[in-house]
Order: sequence, then structure tokens, then C-alpha cells
Amino acid sequence: MSAERESGTIGVLGGSGTVGRVAVNRLAEAGTGSLRVGARDVERARAAVREAGVAASRARVLGVDLRDPAQLAAFCSGCSVVVNCAGPSYQVLDTVARAALAAGADYVDAAGDTVAMRALSAEAPTELETRSAVFSAGLMPGLSGLLPRLLAEDGPLERLDTYVGGAAAIGPLSAVDALLTRGPGFGTALAAWRGGAVVPNALSPLRSVALPGFRGRVHAWPFLSAEAEELAATLGVDELRNYTVYVSERIPEALAGAWARDDVPIEEHVPSVVAAADADVAVGGPWYTLLFHARPRDRDRSGPTRLILRTPDSYALSGVVAALAARSLVEGGVPPGTHAAADVLDPRRTLDDLVADALVDEVDLG
Ligand SMILES: NC(=O)c1ccc[n+]([C@@H]2O[C@H](COP(=O)([O-])OP(=O)(O)OC[C@H]3O[C@@H](n4cnc5c(N)ncnc54)[C@H](OP(=O)(O)O)[C@@H]3O)[C@@H](O)[C@H]2O)c1
Repeated sequence: MSAERESGTIGVLGGSGTVGRVAVNRLAEAGTGSLRVGARDVERARAAVREAGVAASRARVLGVDLRDPAQLAAFCSGCSVVVNCAGPSYQVLDTVARAALAAGADYVDAAGDTVAMRALSAEAPTELETRSAVFSAGLMPGLSGLLPRLLAEDGPLERLDTYVGGAAAIGPLSAVDALLTRGPGFGTALAAWRGGAVVPNALSPLRSVALPGFRGRVHAWPFLSAEAEELAATLGVDELRNYTVYVSERIPEALAGAWARDDVPIEEHVPSVVAAADADVAVGGPWYTLLFHARPRDRDRSGPTRLILRTPDSYALSGVVAALAARSLVEGGVPPGTHAAADVLDPRRTLDDLVADALVDEVDLG
């Protein structure tokens, strides 16, 4: 173990991005080790570190292209934890995780989802016997799979409804991820979880509905994500309905239009997704809500049945979650192996941290 590793260097790859710069800021504020920030554009990364209010002496900036194995290995070398906020996540998959583990570091991924976890598990590196890799450490996936567990602490649930969405700008890189979120590895549109199984075509879109914690009327699209399916199985709920919420039909239409033309390279569909998200934000500014509603099996039991969390910035809040996952690794709170953040973060402590975070407007647990 190198001296630098003992002193705890946390590497944030993609630390100049929308998610990464907030992870850098929160890790610096928490004093969680010294920081190494990586991206291809070094000047932009330096500016991001400055804007995050982190002294240059606390964060070393390194130029790195994750597609270059030697540069990636050099970035990971000497880190105790590597936090990956670079993407597109569903193209990067387990690339950065493997480099981090090979360097003897633990790993956090702000995205990744089941597809990246499967890629890593397919030929699991031996380092996972002693080191940890935590994927899906963002808002969705991430908080969407973690926070509903608070509603099941006082007894089993008959039904759980989850609604996550709002208006958020989507950058070109994240637009590629949105376009790639398709197929059985990610989930099933219109499906619900009932009686221990996925039921296809069980639900219809809810158009122009008013939902607690959401602004105005919104459109809720049923999508049983891989994360929601996992949550349903873990909690043993009889029925789970998972909805992605949009302020207009622009984003679902842009995605559907792109998926209908999959003969065209994915990059050509990026502008329409970015424009759809920008148009949604132009209506009433950026906002995002997570709403979880539970019906306990025992209707007389005490304990909360509804949780609402509101944030102005879903991408930035994903950076907060990635930083919390890194802290948990540094504290030794995560067992070796590959995990989703929702399975290894403490929901109660995470909620307390979010309540105290400037990026959370409201938390209502009742
Ligand atoms: N779980 C969630 O809820 C959630 C929410 C939002 C986003 N995400 C995911 O988080 C990731 C980041 O999203 P974002 O919107 O923050 O993206 P972004 O603003 O475009 O930032 C991407 C960052 O990665 C760096 N980067 C890009 N390509 C790279 C490469 N080849 N090698 C090294 N660094 C590279 C960029 O810097 P350079 O261009 O200078 O290299 C930048 O620092 C995406 O995969 C997205 O899907 C997850």
C-alpha cells in the first residue's frame, strides 16, 4: 500500500461535469481525504475545482481520457477510492471500475446500473474479494432505490408506488445515456411488479395528473426499471408501480422518435433529447421530485407511508449521493464485492444528510 493510498486520495473522474463537480465540492467540504480530479480538458477541470471552492492544494487535476488504458491506470494509481462521474455510463460500463480495482482502490459509480454491475460480475476481478465497487450512486438509479426502504422499516408493504421526475437540463453526454436506457437490462415500459413477478402491460401512462410534491400537472410513464424490480423483490412487496415523471411529452416523444430510427447513429439523436429537456426547463425552471407512497400490509401499523423529496437540480444531487457513497467506503461501511448503492447505503443516515444539504428544498416523511 503506497503512502498516498494510506493518506486517502479520492479520485473523481469526470470531476468537471455537472455531477462530478458537486461530488468534488461535497468531498472537499466533508474533508474526505485529498482529491484528484480527472477529465480530458484540464483547464476546464481546474476551473471547476476553483468554482467548487476547493483550494488547488487540496485537489490535484490530471488530464485523462478513460478510453486510454495507460492514462486511466495512471489516474487510478495511488487512489483509495475512485469515483466515476464520466460517461456515457452505458458505454463505459465497467471500464473504470476494473482500472480502479486493479490499482487497489474501491470504486463508486454515479450511474452504471445493472448493466455495468453485470459486466463487472461476468469476469469478476479477484480484487473484489477485498475491495468494493458501488454502482448506481446517484438520484435515479440511487435514491430511487434507497429511500423507499424507509417506508418498509415498520413492516411489510402490500403496495409501493414510486414517482420520480420533473424538469432538468440534459447535457449531450447524459443524453447518450438516456438514449441507451432501453431494453431488458434497464427495465420494462408499462410493466408492474405483482406477486413476485414482472407483469407486462399492467399499467397505462397517467397523463396530466396532479401528484403530491410535483408542480402543476405532469405526465407519469410506467417503467419497471431494473432497480425498481430489485427493490420490489428485496422488500417483498405484493405490488410495485414505478413511474418516470415528465412535465410535458417532449422527452418521451424525443426518445420514442430516436428509438424508431435506430438505423441512425445514436449521436445524431442527441440534439433532439437535449432540446426537449431544455424546452421543459424553459417552462418553469429546473425542479425535480421524488415521491414514494406505501400501503402497509397491516393497515393499523404505525410508521411513515409517504416520502417526498424535492430538489432544484437532479444532476447535482446525484453528485451529492456519489460523495456520500465514497464517504461510506472510506469509513469501511461497505462489504467487499459489487453492490448497488441502494443496497449498501444507510437510508436513514442518507436522508439526514440530504435534509442538511443545500440542494434539497424539502423532505416530507409522514
Ligand atoms: N444516477 C443518476 O441519477 C444520474 C444523474 C445524472 C447523471 N448521471 C450520469 O452521470 C454521468 C455524468 O453526467 P453529467 O451530466 O455530469 O455529464 P457531463 O456534465 O457531460 O460531465 C462529464 C464529465 O466526464 C468527463 N469526461 C467525458 N468523457 C471523458 C473521457 N473519455 N475520459 C475522461 N473524462 C471524460 C468530462 O470532462 P471532459 O469532457 O473534459 O473529458 C466531464 O468532466 C453520466 O453517465 C450520467 O448518465 C447519473
